[in-house]
This record gives sequence, structure tokens and C-alpha cells, in this order.
Amino acid sequence: MRQSLTELYDSRVTEGSIRPDAAQRAVLPLLEERRAFLEAPVRKSLLGGLFRKPPEGPQGLYLWGGVGRGKSMLMDLFEQATDIPAKRRVHFHAFMQEIHRGMHAARKQGVDDALAPVAAEVAAGVRLLAFDEMQITDITDAMIVGRLFQMLTDAGVLIVTTSNRPPEDLYKNGLNRALFLPFIALLRARMQVVELESETDYRQHRLTGAQVYFHPAGAEARAAIDRLWSELTGGDRGTPLVLQVQGRQVEVPRHHNGVARAGFWDLCGRPLGPADYLALAEKVRLLILEDIPSLSAANYNEAKRFVTLIDALYEAKVRLIASAADAPERLYFEGAGAFEFERTASRLREMQAADWGSAG
Ligand SMILES: Nc1ncnc2c1ncn2[C@@H]1O[C@H](COP(=O)(O)OP(=O)(O)OP(=O)(O)O)[C@@H](O)[C@H]1O
Ligand SMILES: [Mg+2]
Repeated sequence: MRQSLTELYDSRVTEGSIRPDAAQRAVLPLLEERRAFLEAPVRKSLLGGLFRKPPEGPQGLYLWGGVGRGKSMLMDLFEQATDIPAKRRVHFHAFMQEIHRGMHAARKQGVDDALAPVAAEVAAGVRLLAFDEMQITDITDAMIVGRLFQMLTDAGVLIVTTSNRPPEDLYKNGLNRALFLPFIALLRARMQVVELESETDYRQHRLTGAQVYFHPAGAEARAAIDRLWSELTGGDRGTPLVLQVQGRQVEVPRHHNGVARAGFWDLCGRPLGPADYLALAEKVRLLILEDIPSLSAANYNEAKRFVTLIDALYEAKVRLIASAADAPERLYFEGAGAFEFERTASRLREMQAADWGSAG
């Protein structure tokens, strides 16, 4: 029997997997309306293709609000329950990378307007695009996202997206922002903008009271971290997160919904620097860093990178879950920079506090 989104939501509450939240519940009818539209049988128009008139239907939905309010959870509930094959749920950042790759290939073939064929191809495959975590941080995205959305919605693709900011605050203080403003107008014209006004940061809530620093780093620590990971990601395995930093690609092995997971050597054993760590801290809300070893003068470079990483996470108020060989103060106490490491150790302590990062 087909259940409404509200029924699906309520049964999760009854099961005890989520807590009832009136603000979340209030968004469900908006999603239900879109679901009904998408599931209704479509009459194929003779004038198919990218420039056909959009079928009369609801606008896209732009759901924004503070961290951990349940935006991604609601979007996933909607996307999973919507029973059509032509749907796609993708992290906004990954989607934009795909668009850039497609444009690059089209340009190589001498196409003038490289975005048009790429948008047409996306639109041909889907009627629903669910974008998680829309954020515009670089100019290359800022300059194409407007036309991209226009082409997709013209082609009848329904877009649902989550974001931490209202449209007016996207790409705030970005380079050449004036060129970006038409996109904000387009979003306002084509999407219903809704704030999820929930009081509770459920991600923070889930971690409250949980141990977040484990030592020594062994099988027990790994098992505890596995449990936290599945708690935070709803059991999703995650996918690699690829950051573009100054023309380089920095890969974090696992990522889901703002939660990233990497080993110490993935992040501090390679020649990465402040720009890389800042990019990471900007993209994620929580980092799980496993197997931090005891460091000595022989690992000066790794220790230095670790200090830089923790500084970047600390400044950005990213939550940290870690497993390490020893307590923070004993990770690096001899060798150049041991004095500076005291600050890192103290930050590691502070970041373990239950309410740390909750202000962001
Ligand atoms: N009503 C609820 N009861 C219990 N847990 C919830 C509830 N809503 C969401 N959660 C859980 O809280 C965590 C954060 O939710 P979610 O990832 O959907 O937040 P978000 O608004 O997308 O945050 P962000 O802006 O950081 O992406 C998830 O683990 C989610 O399953
Ligand atoms: Mg989210």
C-alpha cells in the first residue's frame, strides 16, 4: 500500500528512529505535492527535447536551514519514496564536477556553447534532480550554475535542493558576484524557497555524550567509530570526496552528507598544505580521522601537517572524531615544534566537548 510521506515519517517516529519535529513535518506536504506530480503518468509531447515547454507542474523546492536540522533526511525520504525511474540524488559538489568534466570534453570537440549539450544530456535522463548541499564557493561554478538551472528547468526537470543559506546569501562576497545575481533571481522565480525552522541540530544531538576521541587506536576503537559512522550516515557507505584545490585534486576516501572519514596517513602522510585543509574544513561538518600515530622528530612533516589540519578544522568549527595511539598531550612531545603542538593538544581536548561546534 502506498504511504504518504507524512505516514512514512510518522512510522519512523513510531519505530523510534527519529524524534517528532513539527518543523520537519510541515515540509512534507510540499514534498508530497511534487511526488504526486512526478508519479502521475506523463503524456509524451511531440516536441520533446531540451526546449520543450515545461509541463505545468509545481516549482522546484529550495530547502534551507541551519546544520543538522534534517534537510538531507527529508530530501532523501522524498527521493526514495518517489516511485519513478528517472530520478537522481547527487551531492551538489559532485554534480558540478561532472558538469565541468562534460564541458571540458565538449570543448575538446569544438562545441561553442559547451554547457548546452551537457545540460541536455542530464535533462534527457531525469525528471527529478535532488541536490544535496548546494553551496557556491568558486567562480567557475558561480558563472555557469545560472544557465545550467535555467536549461534544466526549461527542460522540465524538477529540482529539489538543500542548502545552509537562503538564495540571497549564496556565493556571498564571491569574486564578480554581480554576475551571479541573476541566478538568485532565477532561483526565486523558479523554486519555492522554504526555511526548515527546526530548533534542533540533530547531528549534534546524536553525538552529545558520545565519546569522540579513542585511544589506543585498535580494533575496539575502530568498532566504536564504525558504530558512530553508521549512526551519523544512516548506514550509508559513503563515496570519495574529491576537492579541487589550486588545480590539484585532494581525495578523502569516504564522505556522506557532510561527514567525512579518513585515516591519518590519507591526510597528513601526503604533501598537503593549508589550502587543502581549509578546503576540506569548508566542505565537511564532521571529520573522522583514524589511526593518529605517536609522532616523533622523525615525523616532523606529518606532525606539522597534523597541526595545520587541526587548526583548519578548529577555525571552521568542524567536529572531530578521532582514534589515536595516545592521549592528545602524548602524541608529539619531543622534536621541533613540540611547543606548538601543545596548542594542538589543547584544541583536540576542547573539540571533544559535547557542545563543541554547535554554534556553527
Ligand atoms: N527528527 C529527527 N530525529 C532524530 N534524528 C534526526 C531527525 N532529523 C534528522 N535527524 C538526524 O540528524 C542528522 C542530521 O540530519 P541531516 O543530515 O538531514 O541534517 P541537514 O539539515 O541536512 O544538515 P546539514 O546542513 O549539515 O547538511 C542525521 O543523522 C539525521 O538522520
Ligand atoms: Mg545535509
